Amino acid sequence: MLLLENKVIIVTGATSGIGAAAAVEAARQGAKVVAASRRADRGEEVVARIRAEGGEALFVRTDVTKDDEIEALVASALRAYGRLDGAFNNAGIPGPVGTLEQISADDYRALLAANLDSIFVSMKHEIRAMKETGGGSIVNCSSILGTVGGPSFSPYVTAKHGVLGLTKAAAIDYAASGIRVNAVQPGPVSTEIWGHVKNSDPIYQAIIAGTVMGRAASSEEVARPVVFLLSDWASYITGTSLLVDGGYTIR
Ligand SMILES: NC(=O)c1ccc[n+]([C@@H]2O[C@H](COP(=O)([O-])OP(=O)(O)OC[C@H]3O[C@@H](n4cnc5c(N)ncnc54)[C@H](OP(=O)(O)O)[C@@H]3O)[C@@H](O)[C@H]2O)c1
Repeated sequence: MLLLENKVIIVTGATSGIGAAAAVEAARQGAKVVAASRRADRGEEVVARIRAEGGEALFVRTDVTKDDEIEALVASALRAYGRLDGAFNNAGIPGPVGTLEQISADDYRALLAANLDSIFVSMKHEIRAMKETGGGSIVNCSSILGTVGGPSFSPYVTAKHGVLGLTKAAAIDYAASGIRVNAVQPGPVSTEIWGHVKNSDPIYQAIIAGTVMGRAASSEEVARPVVFLLSDWASYITGTSLLVDGGYTIR
């Protein structure tokens, strides 16, 4: 028995990095995957990879900062597969770097729109769909910066702390509807989100040095715990967050 056999799962931010890996790993575990993001060419590549392995997936072009596009994404999942069992709300951007005084209020708001408000709106539509079939499982993407602060990242830190708050609040409100809501908190993962920083950058290297394992994670090393939280193996887990951080936050 596969972990997500016949479950319909939405993955946002599925065109690269952690989200692409989660879409592939979920399909390997039997899920019908609805992959969402803005770059259609990259999304179709992920879908092709899943289909080449014998899995089932479709791509729905979605900008998670647009409420109507999120609503349309959930509607597409229902139209294609008739139900929604799970969602990994993973889309995110790195946001402005600098001290609070150096960051404009507009840039702050844009970061929150992409990394936090999008999760509120996504859960709203996903939960409505999941209630129709008696429940489901949602995993929201936070970060180690949802637990600790970090220099020059105040909007990102704010959003990722907020993701944990939304996760707990939704877990309480929807437990009676059979919906579990959890978060994942990755440590450093070598993905495109670091593109503006480059792997040799001292900020990135300092974060890696802060892990006790002394290395970044692969996207798959985050994706697999996400699949677990989406699955029925995590049936008594709700309102919590799983730190997948190589020990970054333990000291
Ligand atoms: N990498 C790390 O070290 C790390 C650590 C902790 C947490 N995280 C979190 O992990 C998540 C995934 O990031 P990643 O590291 O895998 O980076 P990534 O490769 O840059 O992936 C980000 C994904 O989000 C999508 N996205 C961004 N803005 C979007 C929007 N407005 N609408 C729809 N999709 C959007 C991107 O796709 P499109 O451009 O095609 O839309 C892309 O698929 C993020 O929430 C990030 O904050 C990453």
